Amino acid sequence: MGNPHFLAIPFPILGHMNPLMQFSHVLAKHGCKITFLTSDENYNKMKTTSIIGEQGKVKESNINLVSLPDGVSPQDDRKDVAKVILSTRTTMSSMLPKLIEEINALDSDNKISCIIVTKNMGWALEVAHQLGIKGALFWPASATSLVSFNSMETFVEEGIIDSQSGLPRKQEIQLSTNLPMMEAAAMPWYNLNSAFFFLHMMKEMQNMNLGEWWLCNTSMDLEAEAISLSPKFLPIGPLMENEHNNMGSLWQEDETCIEWLDQYPPKSVIYVSFGSLISIGPNQFKELALGLDLLERPFLWVVRKDKGNETKYAYPSEFKGSQGKIVGWSPQKKILTHPSIVCFITHCGWNSTIESVCNGVPLLCLPFFSDQLMNKTYICDVWKVGLGFEKDENGLITKGEIKKKVDELLEDEGIKERSSKLMEMVAENKAKGGKNLNKFINWAKE
Ligand code: UDX
Repeated sequence: MGNPHFLAIPFPILGHMNPLMQFSHVLAKHGCKITFLTSDENYNKMKTTSIIGEQGKVKESNINLVSLPDGVSPQDDRKDVAKVILSTRTTMSSMLPKLIEEINALDSDNKISCIIVTKNMGWALEVAHQLGIKGALFWPASATSLVSFNSMETFVEEGIIDSQSGLPRKQEIQLSTNLPMMEAAAMPWYNLNSAFFFLHMMKEMQNMNLGEWWLCNTSMDLEAEAISLSPKFLPIGPLMENEHNNMGSLWQEDETCIEWLDQYPPKSVIYVSFGSLISIGPNQFKELALGLDLLERPFLWVVRKDKGNETKYAYPSEFKGSQGKIVGWSPQKKILTHPSIVCFITHCGWNSTIESVCNGVPLLCLPFFSDQLMNKTYICDVWKVGLGFEKDENGLITKGEIKKKVDELLEDEGIKERSSKLMEMVAENKAKGGKNLNKFINWAKE
């Protein structure tokens, strides 16, 4: 049997598309054929960022891009995740069998052997199951967060989660004896916010269990205890394909920041970014801007242009920003490998966390929702490679607190040492690794 042909189906947001695209590159390098399915909307955006080369292929790769409508109309708000979940499920699931038939007809010697999906696309594993095609889940966050979603049903049965509201009845939760005790609010399902998301995730977990493997962008060095909790877990991270930085991005990266960073001495610049989804709010934006001024150190700050060509919030009139550079979107993986970066103020998205940890860059944590609070627990309490901020009585992290914690972090030799050690350990084991990847490819070949 030849090399397998994978159909990769990410939920159409960056935090899912980016890591699955990276993993697709890894599989392609190992001789696998990849068809990457995205929404028409994202396909068109990708065209404008020159990701797509000849004949619908991702540039410099053997990855074919295909698209289907996701059913979200131009009038609908794409930030409404519930709407996008429902709409992709209804629209794409009915069209997927025909698309698979067409792809297979074009290459009858190398038909699709396995479908890989990310969270919220579990319906595609049902389709795979019905068509007799193998299926796997690619989880774009930590193994621990997947354990926590997978525990929801048991927690409901045991009365730890209220079956109507989805809210926990306990203040603290321990997912397993070897995992850290965490505040209930740190569980990614805690802030699902509605019965819709609660029920969706319960159903989604049933679909995800149809996947033979749970591929995670993590490693034993980072999450051995969580990984040991299910035989489905296959850690294949950390994925750090620098040369493909922009492959899943929907914004044009501002490369001028690399040159700008080159002028600074090692470990002197603070990097600030909150991923692709978070809007930090006008008041927090103001405190952050003034806090960065207070630092009197160079900083590189990503402020996305979410309103066409404009940023979402106005800068405070007192903001000078004289020591900083602000960009709309950065080549983040390159930034975090740059010697001048000293620390990263982050929302603790899993990809940002992994990218920082793998480069030994200490973190300052400003988590908002979903898995971000859990990732903060790992950063601050398990790996001990970063610090959190204290909020004031209005729930804000003030400019003074920002200055205080940055100064504290930069003086903490223990954090610096542990960050370097963790980076080295992950890199060493990655260099020895590849076992799980081969296991996965061989399984798909069978
Ligand atoms: C989402 C969720 O918010 C997060 O909680 C979950 O863990 C993953 O899915 P997102 O908020 O986008 O992700 O954050 P993150 O996981 O950190 O991913 C952001 C990605 O965008 C990273 O790969 C980062 O390198 C990239 N990025 C970010 C850039 O390339 N440039 C930027 O300027 C900012």
